[in-house]
Amino acid sequence: MKLSTNMLKHLAIVLGVCQNVLLAIPLPCHFNEKCRCINIPHHAEIGREIMLEVDCSNRRLQDIPDVPANVYTLSLKKNNIKVINHYQFNLLRHLSELDFSYNKIKRLNRFSFNGLSNLLFLNLNYNPLPYTERAIPIEVFKSLISLKHICIRHTSPYDSLLQEVALSNLKLLESLEIDIPKITPYKVVSSKSFDSLVHLETLKVGTCFLLEIQNNTFFHLVHLKNIYFDILCEISILPGAHYSLQKLHKIEMHYFYMYDVLSIDDAIKELSLTPVQTIIFRNTFLHGTKENFNVWNILASALNDSSVRHLQITENNPVGIFPVLRIDPVPPSILTLNLSSNKLDQFTLELTNVQKLILRDNHLGDLLCLKTDNKHRGRNSKLEYIDISKNNIYTLKPSIFQAQAELRFINLSHNHLQEVLFDVSRSNNLSLLDLSNNSISAFDQNSMRMFDNISLTSNLTIYLLNNSLQCTCKTLIFWKWVVVTRVKVFFDRRCASEDGVVIRFVSTKKKEFKS
Ligand SMILES: *[C@@H]1O[C@H](CO)[C@@H](O)[C@H](O)[C@H]1NC(C)=O
Ligand SMILES: *[C@@H]1O[C@H](CO)[C@@H](O)[C@H](O)[C@H]1NC(C)=O
Ligand SMILES: *[C@@H]1O[C@H](CO)[C@@H](O)[C@H](O)[C@H]1NC(C)=O
Ligand SMILES: *[C@@H]1O[C@H](CO)[C@@H](O)[C@H](O)[C@H]1NC(C)=O
Ligand SMILES: *[C@@H]1O[C@H](CO)[C@@H](O)[C@H](O)[C@H]1NC(C)=O
Ligand SMILES: *[C@@H]1O[C@H](CO)[C@@H](O)[C@H](O)[C@H]1NC(C)=O
Ligand SMILES: *[C@@H]1O[C@H](CO)[C@@H](O)[C@H](O)[C@H]1NC(C)=O
Ligand SMILES: *[C@@H]1O[C@H](CO)[C@@H](O)[C@H](O)[C@H]1NC(C)=O
Ligand SMILES: *[C@@H]1O[C@H](CO)[C@@H](O)[C@H](O)[C@H]1NC(C)=O
Repeated sequence: MKLSTNMLKHLAIVLGVCQNVLLAIPLPCHFNEKCRCINIPHHAEIGREIMLEVDCSNRRLQDIPDVPANVYTLSLKKNNIKVINHYQFNLLRHLSELDFSYNKIKRLNRFSFNGLSNLLFLNLNYNPLPYTERAIPIEVFKSLISLKHICIRHTSPYDSLLQEVALSNLKLLESLEIDIPKITPYKVVSSKSFDSLVHLETLKVGTCFLLEIQNNTFFHLVHLKNIYFDILCEISILPGAHYSLQKLHKIEMHYFYMYDVLSIDDAIKELSLTPVQTIIFRNTFLHGTKENFNVWNILASALNDSSVRHLQITENNPVGIFPVLRIDPVPPSILTLNLSSNKLDQFTLELTNVQKLILRDNHLGDLLCLKTDNKHRGRNSKLEYIDISKNNIYTLKPSIFQAQAELRFINLSHNHLQEVLFDVSRSNNLSLLDLSNNSISAFDQNSMRMFDNISLTSNLTIYLLNNSLQCTCKTLIFWKWVVVTRVKVFFDRRCASEDGVVIRFVSTKKKEFKS
């Protein structure tokens, strides 16, 4: 059914009145039916004028539509736009975001962005826009005096350099997304003309060609805190690199050039000489090699004496990560360990000081074992948060959480548990237990008593959505408990009776509206 603009407007107003709020429902724009507009009322910075968020993405546009002066954000993402004319946006002095990603722009004109003196965010990612002076004239960004974020990633073939001078005017720039082509790669981000970019803290590298990070690579980006290397960027971190990463806080890496134990060992040692707090390896260790690769032990020993607090090793091949025999404990500085989506089928790691452990989306099944430091008996586990959702778990050892008295959050959702047999009676601070999307029919007496006990010291919430809750004589006691317990239990308003009939029930506390 096609609704006319007027009908939609009417509907929006009715809904708005209903809820006594102005709903943000996108409507066809009055100046162009292909675009969708949302009013942003009372924008603090702009005063009384109604501003517009305009979304013209994915409309097969070849030309840039004319838009009125009160446009605040404009998305032209995923179209077939080839040119941005001179003075195209001359009147849009309120525009703060402009998205041209996924178009066919081959070159910019010197005055393409004239007038956009309040633009904060410019996205040109995924355009066939080479880094040549012809395609990106040196003065093209000059009028963007407020710009904080610029993205020109996945555009360039490997053979040209971004005209750095083009960026050196952007004194307020905070983040930069670029490709780093083949020729003398370190030059790109090391030129003196970047010295003026004193707010530039985040760099995202799209494609690169064997980027070697050396002692001068980021020398002129003295404020650099966050670096992300894309999946199409193969790097190596050479000895001395830490000299140009003096403020590093977070780094995400994909592929290593000369993929071998030594280069990763060197890289980690070099990073541990920086103040880095978060290290992310995504999709890095894919090769399972014949001789055991044991990345984990290499990381653990290189990070033994570092300041790194958050370690994320996700979407990798487990064969390359954990050794079969002697596995070193987690380094003492690490508080968060994220090992999601690694196809892990076992986990026996000494957690040392880890507070947050994320093992979501692995194949741990029944083979999960949370080790506490048995060399220092009596030392308490620090674990407060554990996510073992999506792990194909059918049963858990009753003792699994027994030594984890500090637990506050447990996510066991999207598994196949049929009952609660695990013991959390010592976790007095437990406040969230997510058991959604399992096959639980009810809690037994023991569990109910255990949860009641916890609720004396902590406000406990349990999610039981998407389970196979039953309403039979056997489970009556569970339903009675649900009504009286202090524990907040969330469940679907239906249950299955003895003969499999699904019964829906209506809450007696509140009147429910039929949806
Ligand atoms: C960087 O390394 C080169 C040799 O690789 C060396 O000559 C130079 O002194 C180093 N610079 C700094 C600042 O350490
Ligand atoms: C970490 O350092 C401690 C003490 O300095 C040492 O006992 C331990 O073996 C080291 N662990 C690794 C994995 O290198
Ligand atoms: C853990 O890693 C996944 C990527 O697999 C990411 O999406 C998620 O945000 C991370 N979680 C935390 C808490 O770092
Ligand atoms: C638990 O994990 C599932 C799936 O991994 C996720 O969708 C859900 O939001 C998580 N629960 C909480 C309370 O964060
Ligand atoms: C629970 O929280 C309290 C207050 O934050 C804290 O003192 C206590 O050590 C925590 N752990 C346990 C097991 O009660
Ligand atoms: C309830 O808590 C008390 C003390 O905190 C403990 O002695 C008792 O065993 C607990 N009962 C259950 C069923 O966990
Ligand atoms: C539980 O919630 C109540 C009301 O929201 C609050 O007063 C109380 O402090 C909470 N208790 C704990 C242990 O967080
Ligand atoms: C319950 O399952 C439905 C689909 O069957 C899914 O859309 C929904 O996200 C699930 N809810 C939870 C809390 O897992
Ligand atoms: C669990 O959630 C998924 C969606 O995330 C859904 O397809 C599936 O049916 C759910 N399982 C159950 C038992 O509700």
